[in-house]
Amino acid sequence: MSRYADFYRQSIDQRDAFWAEQAQLIDWQTPHQQVCDYSNPPFAKWFVGGTTNLCHNAVDRHLAGRATQPALVAISTETDTERSYTFAELHAEVQRMAAVLKALGVKKGDRVLIYMPMIAEAAFAMLACVRIGALHSVVFGGFAAGSLASRIEDAEPVAVVSADAGSRNGKVVPYKPLLDEAIALSKHKPSAVLLVNRGLAPMHLQPGRDHDWASLREQHLDTVVPCEWVESTHPSYTLYTSGTTGKPKGVQRDTGGYAVALAASMKHIFDAGPRAGDSAAPLSDSDGPGTRETRGAGVFFATSDIGWVVGHSYIVYGPLIAGMTTIMYEGLPTRPDAGVWWSIVEKYQVTHMFSAPTAVRVLKKQDPAYLAQYNVKSLKALWLAGEPLDEPTAQWISHALQVPIIDNYWQTETGWPILTLANGVEPQTTRFGSPGKAMYGYDVKLIDESTGQELTGPDQKGVVAIEGPLPPGCMQTVWRDDARFVNTYWKSIPGRLIYSTFDWGIRDADGYHFILGRTDDVINVAGHRLGTREIEESISAHPNIAEVAVVGIADALKGQVAIAFAVARDASALVDDAARLRLEGEVMKQVDGLLGAVARPARVYFVTVLPKTRSGKLLRRALQAVAERRDPGDLTTMEDPAALQQVKELVGE
Ligand code: PRX
Repeated sequence: MSRYADFYRQSIDQRDAFWAEQAQLIDWQTPHQQVCDYSNPPFAKWFVGGTTNLCHNAVDRHLAGRATQPALVAISTETDTERSYTFAELHAEVQRMAAVLKALGVKKGDRVLIYMPMIAEAAFAMLACVRIGALHSVVFGGFAAGSLASRIEDAEPVAVVSADAGSRNGKVVPYKPLLDEAIALSKHKPSAVLLVNRGLAPMHLQPGRDHDWASLREQHLDTVVPCEWVESTHPSYTLYTSGTTGKPKGVQRDTGGYAVALAASMKHIFDAGPRAGDSAAPLSDSDGPGTRETRGAGVFFATSDIGWVVGHSYIVYGPLIAGMTTIMYEGLPTRPDAGVWWSIVEKYQVTHMFSAPTAVRVLKKQDPAYLAQYNVKSLKALWLAGEPLDEPTAQWISHALQVPIIDNYWQTETGWPILTLANGVEPQTTRFGSPGKAMYGYDVKLIDESTGQELTGPDQKGVVAIEGPLPPGCMQTVWRDDARFVNTYWKSIPGRLIYSTFDWGIRDADGYHFILGRTDDVINVAGHRLGTREIEESISAHPNIAEVAVVGIADALKGQVAIAFAVARDASALVDDAARLRLEGEVMKQVDGLLGAVARPARVYFVTVLPKTRSGKLLRRALQAVAERRDPGDLTTMEDPAALQQVKELVGE
């Protein structure tokens, strides 16, 4: 048996012994009494009885050995700034933020909503929350007032941390007006709003509610805020993600399991950071001059956003837990030019880079000479995730960088890779088109959707499912909705309690998996996960839209884009092309305003009727097939055959 196969088997067959060993990768205040309590499936409790703190493991733990090593480097090509914080400086900033949050009334168990651009203060806020046992709920800065309001209502935060503005492609994107609008829309009103003023956009502070970070920070420059030791199962955060219904789910994560899972992934998957027991060790005198600065554990550059799960796990927590320097980047991959990321790799000697296939496809359209200008030899590998990695993209970047390109497949729900290659355990060859093998701890199965039977042979297509308990680091539940957690994820396959990823997959004879798209109505636009139902609901809110169907269709650059087919209430609004364009523009604006431009459909087509079954069920898959110019398959249940004809004519334009 190969080393990895053996490692994997241990993780499944001797689950508790395996994870007890991984638990040693982090610091505990009190050790656990039980590794995994799975007495109430599908709810898994990891490291029961143990107490720890995520911020301690990400920051304080490293003060002894790497206080002067850069911990966080925040680079913005939007504001042309670079700010670097050593572990000691990060420790000080996080305590200031924690002191301010406490002064604003935030206590253990309270939620803090973070709606911020990619600036260092966003990471301070996340770390400050977990330091005091409060839960953060980061909302992607690209989401608009409607999305923000529904998350405020669901999370019921005591405080919101935000900023005057973000910036995109040199254009200021004000955040504060969107936040004010969202709070006005929400039934729940946070009692305090903490604002970072970047000097990008004017801000009106509402007396009594709004507070300026810079002035409160001044008042707490030296306040000591110790880490609050919390139960391993104490929730560290919620992060909203889209599903089949219009209402996003608050994915809730624990503390101890997450810290262990990330520490283990840094070691076994990313082959990064110090080895067990090494990170907390102070450097000895014999290390010689300068060693303190240079003996870093590596530099991790994930190009995602703190609003997404990759940002949580691999911009903030994972690299810091491993004692690495993490780079936070605000800006485009192509501005000031397409060499900007590689210039960062060269300047900071980045060892690990993590991005998404879409970003690579964007770069591929630029002059390859930009890549050749910089020395990227410090890179161990480039990891890509979030959407399918197509072979031409993988080949192109592999050839250009001359480093291994490693696909990895996972979800907001799992927090760390389900499928990839654990090169820290044993170097494995990549197979283009496949994210790789089942990761340790994940008992991955392919299930026949209709019978619930496991498909054990090679190359059989089934639903990618995971036998419980889910390993440490995965979601504990849906925030305040255990029933939704059970019913959505664990009961979708007939006759058995098994976690569904809602992705189709196959596995070859060597255990390499291939992902074949979602089984539900979730679409993936440039690596951003969006629910078509949410987009439909926002479009339906337009006064002249009677009915709408949104589907994702293949796109060469973004993987998928959303396309809407809408029925207008008043057909006279569609008298000519100009009128049609006007209504299309209004619908797009409507989505921008409610959900954000990320969710905006690429096209809105107007039809007089939507394809439905006789019982009124929308034929989304047929609609999607026609929009992608494929055969829609069996249509015998369709109510009105003319409906698809209209669609065909429209998309064939
Ligand atoms: O459909 C799969 C796709 O993205 C979904 C999860 O998206 P999200 O919750 O935003 O988490 C992203 C974490 C990296 C999955 O259900 N997906 C993610 N990675 C891949 C992928 N599809 C194919 N290949 C991947 N590597």
